Amino acid sequence: MAYQPITHSGAWHALQKHHAEISSTPLRDLFSDDPRRQENFSAQAAGIHLDYSKNPVTSATLELFEHLADTANIKRQTSALFNGEVVNLSENRPALHTALRCRKNKPLVIDGVNITTEIADALKQMRHFVSKIQSGQWQGYNGKAIRHIVNIGIGGSYLGPMAVAEALRPYWTHDVQCHFIANIDGSEFTEIVKNLHPENTLFIIASKSFGTQETLKNAIAAKAWYLGKGGEEAHIDKHFVAVSSNILKAKQFGIDEANIFPMWDWVGGRYSLWSPIGLPLALTIGMDNFDRLLDGAHAMDNHFIDAPFKQNLPALMAMLQVWQINFFSAQSQAIIPYDHCLRGLPAHLQQLEMESNGKRVSQTGAPIQHDTGAIIWGGAGSNGQHAYHQLFHQGTHIVPVDFIVPLQSHNPVNDHHDILFANCLSQSRVMMHGKTLAEAESELRSSGHSEQQISQLAPQKVIPGNRSNNILLTDKMTPQVIGALVALYEHKVFCQSVIWDINPFDQWGVELGKQIGDDIGDALSDPQTSITQFDSSTQSLIKKYRAAKNY
Ligand code: F6P
Repeated sequence: MAYQPITHSGAWHALQKHHAEISSTPLRDLFSDDPRRQENFSAQAAGIHLDYSKNPVTSATLELFEHLADTANIKRQTSALFNGEVVNLSENRPALHTALRCRKNKPLVIDGVNITTEIADALKQMRHFVSKIQSGQWQGYNGKAIRHIVNIGIGGSYLGPMAVAEALRPYWTHDVQCHFIANIDGSEFTEIVKNLHPENTLFIIASKSFGTQETLKNAIAAKAWYLGKGGEEAHIDKHFVAVSSNILKAKQFGIDEANIFPMWDWVGGRYSLWSPIGLPLALTIGMDNFDRLLDGAHAMDNHFIDAPFKQNLPALMAMLQVWQINFFSAQSQAIIPYDHCLRGLPAHLQQLEMESNGKRVSQTGAPIQHDTGAIIWGGAGSNGQHAYHQLFHQGTHIVPVDFIVPLQSHNPVNDHHDILFANCLSQSRVMMHGKTLAEAESELRSSGHSEQQISQLAPQKVIPGNRSNNILLTDKMTPQVIGALVALYEHKVFCQSVIWDINPFDQWGVELGKQIGDDIGDALSDPQTSITQFDSSTQSLIKKYRAAKNY
């Protein structure tokens, strides 16, 4: 049967008609029409309360969302995901990040291998290693305990562990600290190792492929640093371990086989923090807390599988974002955690969403005629209020926002959390409610402005409102809640990919850049290399670099 995009479905057309009916209704009217609106447009699971009442949705909208979800067969695709079917068509692979946190004994056989056993063995290997490092039993070349972990990795081998390690900073134990080197820019390497000493430092070379240029170059620099600063060659195995699916390449680099932690082809990099890629995190918070992180993600998995659509947090958030992107033409989505410890989360969710859903052809290669993944960005509140919230409130671009906020802080200082929480709620309300011209004029009038001043100033003070946002409220940012939160976004991204019929688990778009990067790199290292194959801009810039480098 010829490919039928979702946009040709009755469910999509019904939503288009509904959009025309509802889009001119101010959100503040939806609240005044229904005093219980917040209650009717909220859902909770795994320690997360989702308040999506500040979106242009009614009960009729939810029915239409569910109809679209059924048309896209989200339930069927979800069971395919969890059962290890090939959901990553272009690489002919399953995507089993959910198996990493399942920890049941039920065998799951992939390519003839029971991966349940492999995962259990990997967790045992992690637990054993973490306990030896944290207890000081694992010692460096001169008998010192390891107290600094430097993770060398990039993309999914960096962002997830970094974001969650920061999020769980209150749970770091045994004064083991983790640092992250990702960029090939020597400034990052230099900055990170500046205050470290090889005697109590251990490097984790985290690379699923063990072929990523930045990671390998940084690993080589780390080895040279270790030896150059007095580290002994004979004990290099005490200071270098690896996480990879390419055991051969890791061994060729010089990593002891016993020090290689497994990664697998059936786990995508941006979905891999639950695997030994999460080792830097486990070394700081301990394996018990790492287990709790897995438990939180597993709780969200069960919720995602079992909950009916109208109570299903990942499905609801996916449909709300499809509604914003494909019907209200939102091009970006902001993630604003009102929690300093979650300041790294937007960067992880950027890769999760944009590398998964930044696609332009369907799973079977048909060109997509509608928008897909949004531009994901964000930063910690309340900082953003003094940087980009102006655009949220009065810009011409519509930017839906996910506000993430805990009821309790790990670090109470005076009334700071009251103020932080109040700011989060105020930003959410102002985006929805806004300020009309009449309200602006009456405000200026009651503060004694002249009519002329009022006519000049009032239009500048109007806030259109009707700007959609979600509140994700938690009691406290515990390992369980963080696990559930990241899993929530993983499944939201997955649901959107099913609606759009795109593959969220491959990333062919980054291959060409790597290849041309290698070609230009060759031209920069050898001035004799021909560059005529490049455009004149690239050629002239290579020439400037060559001149500056004057070999
Ligand atoms: O180039 C993109 C990418 O493959 C990401 O998907 C991945 O997380 C990152 O590079 C690092 O890959 P690896 O873990 O194989 O070094």
